[in-house]
Amino acid sequence: MTGRIGNTRADFPADFLFGAATSAYQIEGHAFGGAGPCQWDSFAATPGNVVRGEDGARACDHYHRYPEDLDLVKEGGFDCYRFSTSWARILPDGRGTPNAAGLDFYDRLTDALLERGLKPCVTLYHWELPSALRDMGGWQNRDIAGWFADFAQIVMGRIGDRMYSAATINEPWCIAWLGHFSGDHAPGLRDIRATARALHHVLLAHGRAVETMRAMGIGNLGAVCNFEHVLPAGPTDADAAAADRYDAIFNRFFLSGMFHRRYPDQVLAGIGPYLPRGWQDDFVTIGAPVDWVGLNYYTCKRIAQAPGPWPALTEVPGALPKTAMGWEIHPEGLRYFLNRVRDEFTGDLPLFVTENGMAGDDAIRAGRVDDAARVAYLDAHLGAVRQAIAQGVPVRGYFVWSLLDNYEWALGYDKRFGLVHVDFETLQRVPKASYHALKQALQRSAAQDVKVT
Ligand code: FCB
Repeated sequence: MTGRIGNTRADFPADFLFGAATSAYQIEGHAFGGAGPCQWDSFAATPGNVVRGEDGARACDHYHRYPEDLDLVKEGGFDCYRFSTSWARILPDGRGTPNAAGLDFYDRLTDALLERGLKPCVTLYHWELPSALRDMGGWQNRDIAGWFADFAQIVMGRIGDRMYSAATINEPWCIAWLGHFSGDHAPGLRDIRATARALHHVLLAHGRAVETMRAMGIGNLGAVCNFEHVLPAGPTDADAAAADRYDAIFNRFFLSGMFHRRYPDQVLAGIGPYLPRGWQDDFVTIGAPVDWVGLNYYTCKRIAQAPGPWPALTEVPGALPKTAMGWEIHPEGLRYFLNRVRDEFTGDLPLFVTENGMAGDDAIRAGRVDDAARVAYLDAHLGAVRQAIAQGVPVRGYFVWSLLDNYEWALGYDKRFGLVHVDFETLQRVPKASYHALKQALQRSAAQDVKVT
């Protein structure tokens, strides 16, 4: 028995937006349409980095099949669609002459969204750094702020007039930390100096892009960060301090830079010596005002003290039920972060849940995918959003990650996050039970139809 989603559209404010989210490299098919090489191509081609060495060359072939995919968004009853623009597709060398086919693609995609009555919500960067920029140091090079601002200008010069909202950079933590400290993501570095620079430059690039888009007259600009509810693994003071360090790195560093124009002491204790000269002077740009903040939320983490240099911590598995990623299911963390982000950083600014969802061992049986666990996961997290709204948090929308099963980075095509199943041989799309349950929950009553027109 698959279950239903009990938290329905009628339980949310009339103007609350429901969306589905994707990102460029994970679905488009990077081999198509003249995109330039990006850091995920070479990371995946290096043995040991990605499960089965898989890359995004074909992915879901959304580049050609986007009309069918946007029909699914429309049919699912969603109001908006969060997608990202590939830097390497638009600027194959990272800078210089744009690839006309790349800009044309996002132009077609935008119009296809509008034709279906869907609000286009763009994220400029979701990790596919052009290799040419990586060769020049990528996020370690301060010049990336200018390169990114130029890219923002080119993209938004073409589609900015039709966007409902625009976010700069998806999940700065993943870019800086997974890419430069743990080495789990491209470019696969494990170096604290590289990390310190990436942490700072990713925020500087965000600020420069906000300033650039603002100067172009584009509004509804946002920042998208990810959050994990950090819990000390044990009762000791040492574990509590380790959990606090993890929380500072993951949950506080970026919003503190943007909204308080400083970095948390617990992070400076580690990266301080490695930050680029004059970093304190960049906060005016980093703090460029945004119109909303997006929270990506999936799970909680148990953190213990560990031997070794800063940050001297380790993750300990917890006891809650887990998704196929091994991530504990902890909806309370979403309610907690919506409150905390409002209280500590954003005040009255609108908040959006820009990603939330789970990977499951989803398979087609007799033509159906019964992903009951995902139905329950989404329902529980929608319930957490409702609680936050009831507590007065200005949450304005919720996006499911993801519309389609897709390329889950270092885990290749193994982890299925979609509302829609994708057969990576035939590329056939089959909506899962969660898609149907959500569609049911998002249906408008006749009274609501009147309210939104
Ligand atoms: C987020 C990423 C997204 C996807 C989900 C599972 O961190 O933004 O691309 O990988 O996790």
